[in-house]
Formats: sequence, C-alpha cells, structure tokens
Amino acid sequence: MRSLLFVPADSDRKLAKGAGSGADALILDLEDAVALDNKPAARAGAIDYLNTRDTDNPQTIIVRMNALDTEFWEEDLSTIVPAKPDAIMVPKTISGACIAKVCAHLTTLENTHGLAPGSIKLMNVATETAASMFNLGTYGNVSDRFFAMTWGAEDLAADLGARSNRDSAGNYTEPYTLARALCLLGAVAADVMPLDAIHKDFRDDAGLEEQARAAIRDGFTGKIAIHPAQVPIINTVFTPTEEDIAEARAVVKAFADAGNPGVVGLDGKMLDRPHLRQAENVIERAKAIQT
Ligand code: COA
Ligand code: MG
Repeated sequence: MRSLLFVPADSDRKLAKGAGSGADALILDLEDAVALDNKPAARAGAIDYLNTRDTDNPQTIIVRMNALDTEFWEEDLSTIVPAKPDAIMVPKTISGACIAKVCAHLTTLENTHGLAPGSIKLMNVATETAASMFNLGTYGNVSDRFFAMTWGAEDLAADLGARSNRDSAGNYTEPYTLARALCLLGAVAADVMPLDAIHKDFRDDAGLEEQARAAIRDGFTGKIAIHPAQVPIINTVFTPTEEDIAEARAVVKAFADAGNPGVVGLDGKMLDRPHLRQAENVIERAKAIQT
C-alpha cells in the first residue's frame, strides 16, 4: 500500500473524488476532520460510501474511528461494521492494549452481523500523545488483524503544549523526528507496514516528494495523503522503477547462482543476508503493485 488518502466522511464532494484519486486506500475520517456536531453525518457518509462502493475498484476502504477516550467510538464501530469496511484506523492509541480492545469489540460485532471473524483489519496512528511514545514496542502479536502503523506530529504537538513542531528552517524538531523513527521501528518489530505521516502543506509538491523519498529510503512502505494532488507524487516515489527491480533481481540471482551463501560479491560490493532481504522486498513490492 503506497498511498492512503484521508477523506472527511461528512463531505459528499470529497467522497465523490476519492474513488478516482488513484490512492491505493481511502481513509474515510470520522475523527479530527469532522466537527463534533457532524459525527452522525460522517458515519452516514461512510456507510453510504461503503454500501454503494464499486466492487471492481480494488481500492482498500479504511474508516478512521474516534479515539477510545471519546463518547463516539463504540457507536462508530457498531454503525460502521455492518457496512463491511476493509479496515478500521484507531487514532491516539497509547499501546498495543488499545488495539486488543478494539479487536475484541470487532469480534463481537462481526459475530452479531454474520461477518467472518477477523475480516476487518486494524491500523493505528501511534504517536499522538506523550504517553504513546513510550509504548511503541508493544504492538507485536496483539491482533492478527493489525497490519499497519503510522505516526502523527500535529496531535503530539498539541499534547506537548508546543508552539510549533517545526524549527525556523521548517524541519520537524526532535520530539517529532523521534516519533517518526520509533513508529518505523515499532511497526517493523511488530511485522506490520510502517506508513509515513501526512504532509499538511498540501500545495508544497516539492516538500512532499522530498519527505516521501526520505520515507522510502528509511524503510516506510507508503505515505498518507490529505489532498488528491498528493496521491500521484506518493505513488511515483513508492513504485519501484525498472532499474530498482533489475538491480534487485541481480542481487537475488547472485545469491542463487552462488548456492545461497551468507555473503557474495557483486560489481565489487559485498552483499550479505540483509541485502538479499532488501532485494526480495523490492521484488515483492513491485509484484504487489502489479496485482
Ligand atoms: N479527498 C477527496 N477530495 C478532496 C480532498 C480529499 N482529501 N481534498 C480536496 N478534495 C477535493 C475538493 O473537494 C475539490 O473538489 P471540488 O471542487 O469538487 O469540491 C478539489 O479536491 C480541490 O480541492 P482544493 O480546493 O485544492 O482544496 P480544498 O480547499 O477544498 O481542501 C483541505 C483543502 C485541506 C480542507 C482538504 O484537502 C481536506 O479536507 N483534506 C483532508 C483533511 C483530513 O481528512 N484531515 C484529517 C487527517 S489529518
Ligand atoms: Mg489527529
């Protein structure tokens, strides 16, 4: 999954644009992009979207519920689950226990509505409070549904009482680069997809591309978008080029030709098992995009 586009679920105009955006996934938002008075309208928008979705469109449809410390989350799940979203995004998780709690709730609702147990997947926004930052290693083995983790700098800044999360040059300050790194490490440790956070300056294409390139360099497998114009940029960066694929195939072949040893030489460079895994990842990613 390269690109995931947030769509406020109370906006018919934006919902109408989602399907054609080219995003691998849509995240229909019931949380921060929706005013308190509009929560019922957002649920209705998400349900209608799910019930009338084009089944030929391979786009994954995720619904972002409200956080577990709000009065909204249980009704979010009880109303949305019958419309069979592909996944739920849980915001403001504090630890793996939050995922386990939502997972148990989903199991009950799936049983009630005759859905296959475990059919609705889970992902989270993992770095939105100070407390959550100390638990980013707790998401392994919490639920078979859990497939991806992302991070956020806006709510974390609010929780810290920060005046800004950027320095005078426009770069994230330390708490937020730490959140990014710990999300990446926590997701990989939990064997789920690490997804890079949004770039909120949605007219800054160059800045978005730079962030996306840094993200794939570091190991993120995709990035969240907030505007349709961000989607093609993210898709391009996270799609392996022909050159990437040829290079990866050459690495795999070098190991196979040598009888799969621990280490081989290729074009004057030492390659060991991590390089093989990286090459296999590129090939897997290219295959996943084609299918
Ligand atoms: N999904 C689908 N369509 C979107 C969209 C989105 N996230 N953002 C904008 N569009 C649509 C607009 O509705 C507009 O189409 P229209 O003319 O048919 O109405 C078109 O794309 C161009 O939009 P533009 O005028 O450039 O932006 P805007 O001022 O309407 O919207 C934002 C700017 C930031 C309010 C909007 O992009 C948005 O709501 N983003 C998502 C916010 C969100 O979900 N936040 C929560 C997670 S952080
Ligand atoms: Mg938020």
